Amino acid sequence: MRILQVASEAVPVCKTGGLADVVTALSAALVDADHDVVVLLPAYRGVFDRVEATPLFELGDPLGLGHTARLWSAPLPDTRATAWLLQCDPLFDRVGGPYGDEAGIDWPDNHLRFALLARAAAQLALASPTFGRAIDVVHAHDWQAALATAYLAWWGVGRPATVFTVHNLHFTGRFPASILPEIGAPASAWSPKDLEFYREASFLKAGLVHADRITTVSPTYADEIRTAAGGIGFDGLLRWRGGAVRGVLNGIDTRTWNPATDRALGVPYDLDHLAGKAAARRGLQSELGLAPQNTAPVFGVVSRLTWQKGIDLFLAASAAVLAEGAQLVILGSGEPALELAVAELAAAHPGRVAVRRGYDEGLSHRIFAGADLLCVPSRFEPCGLTQLYAMRYGTPPVVRNTGGLADTVADDDARPGTGTGFVFDPPTAEACAQAMLRACAAWRDTSRFSGLQRRAMTQRHDWSASAGVYLDIYREAMASRGVRG
Ligand code: ADP
Ligand code: GLC
Repeated sequence: MRILQVASEAVPVCKTGGLADVVTALSAALVDADHDVVVLLPAYRGVFDRVEATPLFELGDPLGLGHTARLWSAPLPDTRATAWLLQCDPLFDRVGGPYGDEAGIDWPDNHLRFALLARAAAQLALASPTFGRAIDVVHAHDWQAALATAYLAWWGVGRPATVFTVHNLHFTGRFPASILPEIGAPASAWSPKDLEFYREASFLKAGLVHADRITTVSPTYADEIRTAAGGIGFDGLLRWRGGAVRGVLNGIDTRTWNPATDRALGVPYDLDHLAGKAAARRGLQSELGLAPQNTAPVFGVVSRLTWQKGIDLFLAASAAVLAEGAQLVILGSGEPALELAVAELAAAHPGRVAVRRGYDEGLSHRIFAGADLLCVPSRFEPCGLTQLYAMRYGTPPVVRNTGGLADTVADDDARPGTGTGFVFDPPTAEACAQAMLRACAAWRDTSRFSGLQRRAMTQRHDWSASAGVYLDIYREAMASRGVRG
């Protein structure tokens, strides 16, 4: 099968969150299963420094903006997949992030930037038999790529199958209706049966309406988004799509995320040689200026600092665990009020709370390894990857009972001797504090905690099983188009 993944991020080309990890690791797993995978990405500033690209051809000016788009090809680093880089410098070659400027303000022309990505994907998929092997499936990720499924549906005949994955329903890609002519949408797109969503145009909705199959990144989140509470207005449409909607649990790239080979760690370790984990703990305390104590656990947080992630719950719960002698390590950036609140907590507890603002891949690995427990108190979490990384590094997570967190972490108090972490339900500081205190108690019981670590480390979350499920979904999507896979 030849699969075109369309996304706004993929490690190591560009990453702001778990989407980037998933696009690359899924692509690598599909190639390992003998399929041909190309990942179409925007050529943001700096991308050509991270890959060995060669020019392919010009794509003209798909949106009539007066800018020629060009396609480059490169090996997707650390995989056997190919990256196609969409170069259109006036839209993508900018100082700042993929979605906004350095202050975090969204680029005002995001509708054009991501319509171009999606339209290029649709054009390339249709033209693929003329310049190589035909693309069988276009797999679009999140709102930034969703329009690819719409262009293919609007243009009609002879199109490949389409699959749309929702990594986060809350990112809806909403713009005023006036942009529809600019992105080349037909007049019929302005309808509640198409892109119209509460008097605006939603790119996310394009994927939910037009894709042959829709997936999201965990079974529980697939259920949650079909309820009024979790569906934020899309639940009716998702229920109507019926069996076309599936939850497929994300895997992790076990080559990158492996404490036995991790170059970010001083002393590698595995299940049977945990001395390296103790060294990682000491190293983390020293790196971040924490007191070198061994009498209470170190809790880590590696997260975007946003409402979704429940960072406020963690902050409000922190007093209870600090009173127990615990230490806290927080790595992340996000909403200014939360960045300020974590900085204030660190300032109030020198040597006991350490905060690093920003994005630091190496430090994230050292936290997953060096912390005793990882806290992921998300209000909602489509899948979540940090709890999976932490488990693999022998760091049981404390998580809220939602989405992929619920699907991947089992509470060790609920069924003693079987759990892989600690789970709390109501999204409140009290419930979060209680779970963290239960985790402290488990940490103090050395033999119990080593059983918990062992179970966490032996969970299998590699991509092989989920890649197989995606292949089944691709075949279903192709069959729904009358094409055999
Ligand atoms: P989301 O995509 O919603 O942010 P995930 O848990 O799926 O949540 O993925 C987050 C990814 O980003 C993980 O790979 C995590 O390690 C990484 N990450 C988050 N914040 C940081 C940070 N400040 N520095 C380094 N990596 C980070
Ligand atoms: C989104 C979700 C996160 C998920 C990631 C990868 O960013 O917020 O839960 O793990 O996508 O699918």
